This record gives sequence, C-alpha cells and structure tokens, in this order.
Amino acid sequence: MFSGKKVLITAGPTYEPLDPVRFIGNHSTGKMGFALARCLAQQGALVTLVAGPTALALPHPLVNLVPVMTADEMFAACQAVATEADLWIFAAAVADYKPKDTALSKIKKNEASFTIELVKNVDIAATLGQQKRPHQFAVGFALETDQELENARGKLLKKNLDMVVLNSLRDPGAGFKHDTNKITIVKASSVEAYPLKAKDEVAQDILESIKAEWACLQKK
Ligand code: CTP
Repeated sequence: MFSGKKVLITAGPTYEPLDPVRFIGNHSTGKMGFALARCLAQQGALVTLVAGPTALALPHPLVNLVPVMTADEMFAACQAVATEADLWIFAAAVADYKPKDTALSKIKKNEASFTIELVKNVDIAATLGQQKRPHQFAVGFALETDQELENARGKLLKKNLDMVVLNSLRDPGAGFKHDTNKITIVKASSVEAYPLKAKDEVAQDILESIKAEWACLQKK
C-alpha cells in the first residue's frame, strides 16, 4: 500500500533562538519519526523527513532528510512538499512558543531578573490540515498527562487529522528519551491500546493502523 506513495514526516524538537548561543527547546529525540521514516522507506514509500535538531543518522538511504531548526523553518519545509504528499505524519515536538525577539549578540547577565516575551508558533499540523484534500491522510501525535482520550479526540477535530497516536506520560517507558513506547491509537470511530514495545515495532503497528483506516476512507 505504501509503495510509491509520497510521505511527509516531521520529527524531533524545534529550537527557538534567544540569542546566538541560547534557545528554547525540548527533550524530543526524533526516534519515533525516524523509525516511521525507515519502515516506510523499506516498504517503497518516497519519504521526506523534516527534522529538528537530533543526534540521529539518516534512517534509510532513500529518505530525503531536510534538517531544520525552528518551527518556522519546519513549517516552510513542510509547505514545500505537503500538497504533493499522500500521507502526512506529524511526529515532531514543535515548540509551542518562540521568543518575540532574538538578540543578535549574546545576552549579558547585567540584570538581577530577566523576562522573555514569548509569542505563539505556527501550528504546522492544524494549518496544513485546513488545506487537506480527501485523498490525503494525516496522522498526529499527542503527549498527554491528563484527560488523554478527550484531548486526543479534540486534536483529531481541531487539526483535521485522520488518526492520533497518543502517548501518556503516566506510562513508564513511553514518550521522550526511551527506545520503547506505549501508544493508544485514536480514530474518529475507534480507540486501540497497544502494549509497551520497541519504537521500531511501534512504527509497524502505526503503519498497519494507517493502512486499515486509509483503505476504509478510500472506499467511501
Ligand atoms: N504540532 C504541530 N505544530 C505545532 C504544535 C503541534 O504540527 N506548533 C503537531 C505535533 O507534531 C503533533 C500534534 O500537533 O502531531 C499535537 O501536538 P501537541 O503538542 O500534543 O498539541 P498542541 O496542539 O501543541 O496542544 P497542547 O500542547 O496544548 O496540548
């Protein structure tokens, strides 16, 4: 099913610079998005992987890796390929906010306290979701601590996604910095919980679930 399909994947964190040496970021390693890129490329998909700063190597020789730093750069790289892509997978942990201003030189510690004004970043999944066409399939991720299912369902609607992969921070071994993950896949009409597995195996489960849902949508 994935052979010859064009796939856009976002992965990793974004870094939002404060000055030339400092940034606001998060602990995402990019492992889940890279595992998905590798599995899809192995199945013949044409993958563009737009990744924030990670320590990971190219996951497969045929993956087109586009390295970016900020949410704005990630959005621009996604926009360049989104219309052509059949499948969008938003696995990146995009920083929700960025500093309003970036200093051109290193900020010195002259003051006793220091306040940073932050402004909202573009929501890549939601913005592209507004232009999604019926043949395109979009997958988002959600990392929640409370009211997980309700929040995941909210993201399906708000971002026009076909599927949300939910990780709960309450589950040991799930989420950031682990080689394992424990997910629940939330679709408009179903919820399926999976056991703790290696991220490569989790990627296979996600792809199987995409296949099933996508086939259903194409029949409609
Ligand atoms: N996402 C995105 N662009 C953003 C923020 C999030 O593309 N600026 C995508 C993520 O890649 C993920 C999904 O949206 O697939 C949900 O991200 P999450 O951070 O859980 O949700 P938010 O919309 O940021 O909501 P909140 O942090 O308030 O839960």
